[in-house]
Formats: sequence, C-alpha cells, structure tokens
Amino acid sequence: MQKGKLPVHVGLIMDGNGRWAKRRLMPRSSGHKHGMNRMIALAEHAKKRGIKYLTAYTLSTENLSRPKDELDGLFDLFRNYFTENVKKLYAENSAVRIIGDVDALPEDIARLLKEGEKNSPANAEFTMVFAINYGGRAEIINAVNRAIERGEKTDAAGFEKLLYTGGLPEPDLIIRTGGELRLSNFLTYQSAYSELYFTDVLFPDFTDEEFDKAIESYCSRERRFGKV
Ligand code: FPP
Repeated sequence: MQKGKLPVHVGLIMDGNGRWAKRRLMPRSSGHKHGMNRMIALAEHAKKRGIKYLTAYTLSTENLSRPKDELDGLFDLFRNYFTENVKKLYAENSAVRIIGDVDALPEDIARLLKEGEKNSPANAEFTMVFAINYGGRAEIINAVNRAIERGEKTDAAGFEKLLYTGGLPEPDLIIRTGGELRLSNFLTYQSAYSELYFTDVLFPDFTDEEFDKAIESYCSRERRFGKV
C-alpha cells in the first residue's frame, strides 16, 4: 500500500551508551556524550534524507531513578551542550520540540529546554523532538485528566491534541539500538501502527549507514493499518 515511501517521522530509542563506555573502560557519562554527538549528527543526516521529524528518547521518566552521579552527568550534558546543539539545528532551518514532564526537571534545565523550543525557526524543514523526562503512560494519564477537566467526551482526534505530541504525526518507524526488544514506555499511544526496527549496535556506534539500513528495511515493508 505504502511500500517504498520514506518515513515522515522516525522515533529513536538510543540504548547502549553505558555498555559502549564500559567496553572501553570509560565512565558511563562518556558514553552519553558520544551518544549525544551521534544523535545530533543523525538529525542532520535524517533531514538530508528527507525525513521531517526525528524523536529521540533522551531521558525516560524511569531514567530519573538512576544513581545520582550518572543523572548529574546527564544533566551537565544538557547544561553544557543543549543550547550549542540547538543553535546547530536552527542553522539548518530545523525546529526543536520538547515532549515530557519538563517542569519536574531541575529549574535551569527546564528553562533552557523551553527556550530551545520557543526560539525555533518558523516554517522549519525538519523538527528534532527531544523526549525528556518522558513516559508514555504518564502522557496518556495526563491527557485523560486534561480531557476530564474540559468536561466533555472526546474522540481520537481530540484526545491526540492533548498528548505531549499534539500536532505531530505518529511515528512511522521506531528504531531501538542496543539489542533489547521492547519499547520501554516510548510513544505508547502513538506507536500503535509504527514499524519497529531493532539492532544490536550500541547507540554511539549507530552510524548514518546503520540508520540508512533501518530506513531501507522500512521502505521494503508493506503497511496495511489493519486492512487487507
Ligand atoms: C540509554 O543508554 C541512554 C540514555 C539513558 C541517555 C541518552 C541520552 C543521550 C544520547 C544524550 C543527551 C542529549 C543531550 C542534548 C544532552 P544506557 O545508559 O541505558 O546504556 P546501557 O543499556 O548500555 O547501560
């Protein structure tokens, strides 16, 4: 039905930074830094390939219970590099969108994330979506509560506007690196008809060529959306 078409929206579960660092006798934070650089390079590559949205699972709600020193390392990455990376994206006429419970993060980080989103270019050709302190179930519960507050019944189109992803298309393809075969609370509502691609490659080693393999796999599939 849609065979051969490029995905419009790709979701990316960036797993394996810790193991990548451990194999090199380096601290986990070093794996996250290499992962961050790879993520930004992939955004540029995805845009060149004609993909319109890339959503990266940057920090799950569950990741917030990691040991304090690892979390501090991740937060420092945001403090030191987020704005720099956002400027690189703007320079390519790309927008930034944040999904997740940003207000539960340290205040300075919440502020820089919101600024990154707010100052995005209008009419961008590509949007990099950062899922940060994101959890699919929490997103659904939050949307249900917002629907109840409105005091009227909703339908799928109305409900989808209340999700963090309101206004974004559903992910056509979700890629998970690092060898695990699960979605781990990523885009739980939106992934109902997503094509899935799993690879053992650890995220810092997930090159542009590896990304292209996932796109090729997607293009070879026939999507039926429940029809025949
Ligand atoms: C999972 O690997 C990855 C994360 C928890 C963090 C991902 C974050 C980034 C790639 C960069 C952050 C971006 C910015 C802009 C600051 P893991 O630690 O679970 O790896 P493991 O399974 O090998 O332990």
